[in-house]
Amino acid sequence: MRSGVSLQDLERELENGALPAWVFSDAQVYEWEKEAIFKRVWNFLAHESEIPEVGDYVVRFIVDTPVIVTRTEHGIRAHVNMCRHRGAPVCRGERGRSQAFRCPYHGWTYSNTGELVGIPFGEQIYVDPERIKRELSLPRVRVQSYRGLIFGTLNEQAPSLEDYLGESTWYLDLFGCRGLDLEVFGDPERWILSANWKIAAENFGVDNLHILSTHGSLIVELKQFPFRQEYLLGPANFVAYFPGRGHAIAVNRPFPGMKFVGVPESLITRMEAEAPEHAPFLDGLSTVVGTIWPNLSLLTVVQPLGPYPVGQGEAPRYWTIRVWQPTGPTQMQVWSWCLVPRAMSDEQKWKSFQAYRLSFGISGIFEQDDAEVWKGITELAASLGGREVRLNYEIDGVEGPWPGQRFIKGAPGVVRPYVTEAGARNFWRTWLTYLRGGSDDGHGGSMGDRGVFDSRGRAAG
Ligand code: FES
Ligand code: FE
Repeated sequence: MRSGVSLQDLERELENGALPAWVFSDAQVYEWEKEAIFKRVWNFLAHESEIPEVGDYVVRFIVDTPVIVTRTEHGIRAHVNMCRHRGAPVCRGERGRSQAFRCPYHGWTYSNTGELVGIPFGEQIYVDPERIKRELSLPRVRVQSYRGLIFGTLNEQAPSLEDYLGESTWYLDLFGCRGLDLEVFGDPERWILSANWKIAAENFGVDNLHILSTHGSLIVELKQFPFRQEYLLGPANFVAYFPGRGHAIAVNRPFPGMKFVGVPESLITRMEAEAPEHAPFLDGLSTVVGTIWPNLSLLTVVQPLGPYPVGQGEAPRYWTIRVWQPTGPTQMQVWSWCLVPRAMSDEQKWKSFQAYRLSFGISGIFEQDDAEVWKGITELAASLGGREVRLNYEIDGVEGPWPGQRFIKGAPGVVRPYVTEAGARNFWRTWLTYLRGGSDDGHGGSMGDRGVFDSRGRAAG
């Protein structure tokens, strides 16, 4: 593994408009990321529908740290799953229902709001057990939700989740968080992927060019999707990114005259009533895909259930969100949730889940297409001859006006064409800003919005 890298080296590289491959493999970079990014951001933990009843809990991770997320009588709470006595994990399950967690080591018991409520033989063995109980709660994790999405942060100084997400919430709403009343279908799938987390985060936020080549088996060979040039370059499609915040999302609208294809009409009506500003964007809508900085991605699209094109058989819509949980410089654990509108029938939900599983579930074809490439990138990024190679981010390099812009009115963020690397460049600018420590307020701030990737006029923000 490479050693001795400095932030100054990185800055120089990015200012020259390239990214050294070792950012996808370097152990030092990974250590920086843990402290400078994941300790400070809002990390996605769970969906509220996973813990519907008081007492329900799930155990999730902020990078390497297990966090108990539980619904209490006082609202949703989260704590590091670590006993204050000797540091044993107090909750051994991954999910369940419990009002309290009893440490398996010496039996200290914590309420699900985190307070230490029981010490075996406390009165006999401690001078002042009540003081110990008062002082030694489970380590708290701040939690806030956005329309069912529960985020947690280890940063007491972080801004509110609302501020952190900024106007990216407009796209979370369009994805279905507003109006569709999404709930989780089954447990999240999890698997280990031998790839660096940033490759996946950057791909979802947003690399639209890879679709035709990486996923050529379904798209070009099986012709499952009506992929014409317009599907990528059509004027109604776009990417939006958020300087300083790192989020980027793409919206694809290739089916004019059809509203949010695959969504039951009653739900479309509800979306339009709840968010009239979204109504024009539902026309022709196929795909919403993106990354909420740093490692939460989302995708909704349709998927034929058999080897036929969209429009010639059943092609249910599915919704997935996923966390690219870093587990090392060259490995991540993928957490993938399938979401469904609560009001759909059981049969509709099941079909939506099948569509998800076929394309982006653990054995999904799209998923495996991507995984294979990402694994290869990571291996090369760690290799003798590959790690110093500079990678290129010049698509849509000079972010000027483009003809399609007139079709996109009212969409927040910096709006760019569908095939662009502007979102990815913003990802890297935000990344560097965090590594520099320039975001103690919890989001990227102004530093890094310029001066990276733009010294050759490549990213005039
Ligand atoms: Fe938990 Fe001792 S480590 S009670
Ligand atoms: Fe892909």
